[in-house]
Amino acid sequence: MILVTGGAGFIGSNFVLDWLAAGDEPVLNLDALTYAGNLRNLESLTGDPRHVFVRGDIGDRALLDSLLARHRPRAIVHFAAESHVDRSIHGPAEFMRTNVQGTFTLLEASRAHWATLPSGEREAFRFHHVSTDEVYGSLAPGAPAFTESHAYEPNSPYSASKAASDHLVRAWHHTYGLPVVTTNCSNNYGPYHFPEKLIPLMIVNALAGKPLPVYGDGQQIRDWLYVSDHCSGIRAVLAGGQLGETYNIGGWNEQANIDIVRSICTLLDELRPDPAGPYERLITHVADRPGHDRRYAIDARKIERELGWRPAETFQSGIRKTVQWYLDHADWVAEVQSGGYRDWVEQNYARRSPNAPR
Ligand code: NAD
Ligand code: DAU
Repeated sequence: MILVTGGAGFIGSNFVLDWLAAGDEPVLNLDALTYAGNLRNLESLTGDPRHVFVRGDIGDRALLDSLLARHRPRAIVHFAAESHVDRSIHGPAEFMRTNVQGTFTLLEASRAHWATLPSGEREAFRFHHVSTDEVYGSLAPGAPAFTESHAYEPNSPYSASKAASDHLVRAWHHTYGLPVVTTNCSNNYGPYHFPEKLIPLMIVNALAGKPLPVYGDGQQIRDWLYVSDHCSGIRAVLAGGQLGETYNIGGWNEQANIDIVRSICTLLDELRPDPAGPYERLITHVADRPGHDRRYAIDARKIERELGWRPAETFQSGIRKTVQWYLDHADWVAEVQSGGYRDWVEQNYARRSPNAPR
């Protein structure tokens, strides 16, 4: 089996669902269920013996040791993190605790586990670290896209914590020989995206007739990738990536935030017209994010050249699927907004031991 950390979050839950749709290798899913973790995302796996969920923290070394000894995963895919830049500006401590200290603890537990494996399994073992393009900092207009050799210049507490975790992973390979691969991906979007990030926030606010808050002039550029394409990129690197290497994953789709918001409005005008008028009327420019990176762009030629990976979705196809998903899952949105998904988690887990399966 494989161990996935953070598998109840946005990308992690998409990864677990895609993994189990593509094959039968079981997944041990370790997630602390912070505000960003939502077991409803994995509801379709209820009763599926291939999915073993454990509520727990990647910083809990005793728990990690017992899980690794009991389940003996052949690989670890590490998604668990605090992931929201705005939250990192308001409260960076949790980002240091999970992204830096938590990754350190997971690396140490993985190293101890790896050392106990018989030689064939030792060689086959993989620690896949899931990271972000934000570690490279901000690009000037017209500057070439980030390659894997671009200098690390993180600018937010979030990106600094992810950069620190990338460095730890690199060092654990270089010093201890731990068989690691790292992927640095651009902005994801798609189903189960928590509605505090740009794309889902704009969809749910528009549907509720609320303002669409665009930071500053809205000309900040991001590269957007449909989440299932990120998941297929991770599978490709896990299967065939060179040990100790990093791979950038991106959608070849640079767009200014304001254009993303306008595209969402246009799609909603088509799919769920508002009698009050076009959704663009709700666009509201608000104060900028402190230290806001102006532009990210990913050069994904290495993963394409070495592993033959390319995104399957265009932005047009991916954003249409995404808007439609939110229209079809108003119940999921309502439960997230009311906090109901957390009440359910508390009810379900309050009386269970931290490492009780499912
Ligand atoms: P998310 O915030 O939606 O989910 C994070 C998950 O990790 C949640 O389920 C949460 O409960 C869990 N978690 C948090 N702290 C934990 C801890 N201490 N122990 C165990 N579990 C914990 O994040 P996401 O958007 O799905 O991102 C997943 C990973 O991908 C992160 O490492 C992020 O840096 C990276 N990434 C995200 C994007 C993006 O656009 N969202 C792009 C590139 C890379
Ligand atoms: O680049 C990859 C990163 O993408 C990941 O590592 C992060 O985990 C993920 O959260 C995302 O970070 P961003 O800061 O780019 O995502 P966010 O959705 O928060 O914002 C996208 C852009 O939209 C950014 O330029 C800020 C802007 N924005 C965001 C919000 C929430 C707005 O203009 N208004 C908003 O209300």
